[in-house]
Amino acid sequence: MKPIYLDYNATTPISKEVADAMRPFLDEYFGNPSSSHIYGLKTKMAVENAREQVAKLINCEPTEIIFTSGGTEANNFAIRGIAFAHQNRGNHIITSSIEHPAVIQVCKYLEKFGFETTYLPVDKFGMVNHQDVEAAIRNETILITIMHANNEVGTIQPIAKIGEIAQKHNIFFHTDAAQSLGKINVDVKELGVDLLSIAGHKLYAPKGIGALYIRKGIKLEKLIFGANQENNLRAGTENVLEIVGLGKTCEIAQQNLKKNAIHYQKTRDYLYSLLKEALPQIRLNGHPEKRLPNTLNLSFPDIKANELLACIKDVAASAGAACHSGNIDISLVLEAMNIPLNFAMGTIRFSTGRYTTMSEVEIAANEIIDTVKYL
Ligand SMILES: Cc1ncc(COP(=O)(O)O)c(C=O)c1O
Repeated sequence: MKPIYLDYNATTPISKEVADAMRPFLDEYFGNPSSSHIYGLKTKMAVENAREQVAKLINCEPTEIIFTSGGTEANNFAIRGIAFAHQNRGNHIITSSIEHPAVIQVCKYLEKFGFETTYLPVDKFGMVNHQDVEAAIRNETILITIMHANNEVGTIQPIAKIGEIAQKHNIFFHTDAAQSLGKINVDVKELGVDLLSIAGHKLYAPKGIGALYIRKGIKLEKLIFGANQENNLRAGTENVLEIVGLGKTCEIAQQNLKKNAIHYQKTRDYLYSLLKEALPQIRLNGHPEKRLPNTLNLSFPDIKANELLACIKDVAASAGAACHSGNIDISLVLEAMNIPLNFAMGTIRFSTGRYTTMSEVEIAANEIIDTVKYL
């Protein structure tokens, strides 16, 4: 028996519909989208169709979508792209202390070039305060980058409120929507963002494909130089196969958004209720309501997360802390949320998805409960 997969925030399987949409581009359609003959036209049309599908899901124009190799590249492109294209306006960036490394590490890199970054704190639920964002703004601030939803605890940030602040102060605003897309509504106009990152493998498309929304009129410094693909913003022959997969998955996500979210929440809440009843000492991390519907980050006090994961072999989930040779490495997110050490060290992220069943949840819960009691 394969372990029960409760790690959908790490990655998702490719859905059958997505694989079916991609298959002709493995077997048959191989043309280079830049070629003017029929082989090229076929793949060019497929890429443009996918661009429309992605754009529709986030409510923008297809011309505002650039395909990338994933969420990491989209974040790199957005942050570096704004920083280097607009450094004549200022050198200050505002972000949060709970961003993915694909944001934090880019900001750290930019510090070598004279940029300064403010890493905003979060409250005990992992929430950024929009008033802190406004208070951190300086004359030199050119970019605010705050994630839409956190990958570890699932807290959904007040992006629309921050968007209003960014607009009021005429500052570019980027959000990393790698975790939120397909789980909650993501509408670039409602959120008031100028740039938004997408990661295909978090929503049932393959790994190695993503996209960046760039609001019309916004200038970015190029990240990858070469020929003039992707509106002359991202050089390299298009990853047609996976772009088709990303497009299809966005179409499906849009059609089934509500239905999927209900399923994610039902399975997640069932897991929580079973665990909480048997183990009342556990602590739920992340915002109680403003949280991704599939994400359940739990602390099992006085237990080591990696020991627990090693014992629950029939459940695949992620640890929020790693203990090795007497040291405990707590994730930066849990640290920023000030989770007490004896809770933080025993933190596991469970994340449900499209293929999680209620009976899987019961089996997983029983195994977790037995193991925690044993440990
Ligand atoms: C919030 C967030 N941003 C960015 C990424 C990176 O995306 P990718 O794996 O497509 O590079 C991830 C993936 O773990 C993520 O959770």
